Amino acid sequence: MACRLVHHDLDKIAGQMFVLPVNLLLRRPLAGTRLYKETALFNVLSAYAGDPILSLQVAYRDDPRADKINLSIGLYYDNEGQVPRLASVQQAQARVSTSTEPSMYLPMSGDPAYCKASQALLFGDDAEIVRQGRVATIQTVGGSGALKVGSDLIRRFFPDIEARISNPTWDNHRAILEGSGFKVETYPYFDRDTQRVDFDAMKGALRALPARTLVLLHPCCHNPTGADLTPAQWDEVVEIIASRQLLAFLDIAYQGLGEGLDADAYLVRALVKANQSFLVSGSFSKIFSLYGERCGSLSMVCANAEEAGRALGQMQQAVRRNYSSPPAYGASLVRTVLTDPVLNAQWRAEVDEMRVRMQAMRERLIQGMVAEQPQVDWSFLDVQRGMFAYAPVLGAHMVRLREEFGVYIIESGRICVAGLNTGNVDRVAHAFASVLK
Ligand code: LMR
Repeated sequence: MACRLVHHDLDKIAGQMFVLPVNLLLRRPLAGTRLYKETALFNVLSAYAGDPILSLQVAYRDDPRADKINLSIGLYYDNEGQVPRLASVQQAQARVSTSTEPSMYLPMSGDPAYCKASQALLFGDDAEIVRQGRVATIQTVGGSGALKVGSDLIRRFFPDIEARISNPTWDNHRAILEGSGFKVETYPYFDRDTQRVDFDAMKGALRALPARTLVLLHPCCHNPTGADLTPAQWDEVVEIIASRQLLAFLDIAYQGLGEGLDADAYLVRALVKANQSFLVSGSFSKIFSLYGERCGSLSMVCANAEEAGRALGQMQQAVRRNYSSPPAYGASLVRTVLTDPVLNAQWRAEVDEMRVRMQAMRERLIQGMVAEQPQVDWSFLDVQRGMFAYAPVLGAHMVRLREEFGVYIIESGRICVAGLNTGNVDRVAHAFASVLK
């Protein structure tokens, strides 16, 4: 408990300085000074077990082995094992750094040009729904910030609904939705026996949900499995969403890294075509290699422009209550790249390059696994897309991978294929084959 020393107390301390050691001085009540007992108010706080993904990142960092391999957190590494600075982003940095504009607060909804550019990526260039003013978009603190603002807002206006997430999903989905107060259950998604999406089970579960249930969907590069639905399957899901009046919340953090920037937005655009109201959380962390800048967006697709105006107001209020307004620097880089035709084209080529490299590494991993264990059918890895592959790895395998081979993956068996390169992929295939024997 803090105690206040007034000016004459300080004079007394100064007077005693020469006769008392400092530690005694601080503990001894001085004439005219009241010290209060420590209250240990925060003793009620329980210990945090740590986040399964972020804790592993720390363990990897602290591992002294030179040949350790990080396939845990979803970060894109280049073939040299470095997190790249994209050339398009470097050019934007050079332009932004010469600006002498003062650093002002952004509006609650963020940088307007950034929001407009985010809409174009998600809904398509010159999309009719955007022109009609039916999409309300704000800049958020990464994709997680978008999920948080969106789930807080939905919880406030739909206090009786529950939320459903895929089984499995990114750990933070449950944490964020529960943090907003939702009861969260899962819908079946990935079948460990077939190593593929169990689409019939997924559809059956979605069909059985009460109207307005919030359903969190990954439009592309499913995290953690990398197993995506085909456009025809998404059409069936859209039909269920529309007929059951479900509330879709899309989390698209890897747009462009699955099949391409437009192909990966198939579900977003199919829901628009089906005239649905829904939310989309977007992230630029991976596709701009700008993890620390926390650049995301939240869009609400509404029935008309008037409703979208109110949605924007409620998102602004949710932001104001949480962090007031988003940070400016990262958004200025993304905006500069997306709004300059030359930089935009350069960036698109860089996204393509990341996607192609990851796919090549996935194929090299499969070849390595086949060479190590030809009797096993590894083809399930080949239908997975994006930053992750999903292997039948259990907790015990994971510990062996880490301790014996210095290969870090998260407990669910998710492999970040972006951490593979021509120098380590054969070693990784050998490590997997050894623990899975
Ligand atoms: C991941 O899934 O590894 C990334 O999205 C990073 C994170 O915050 O978990």
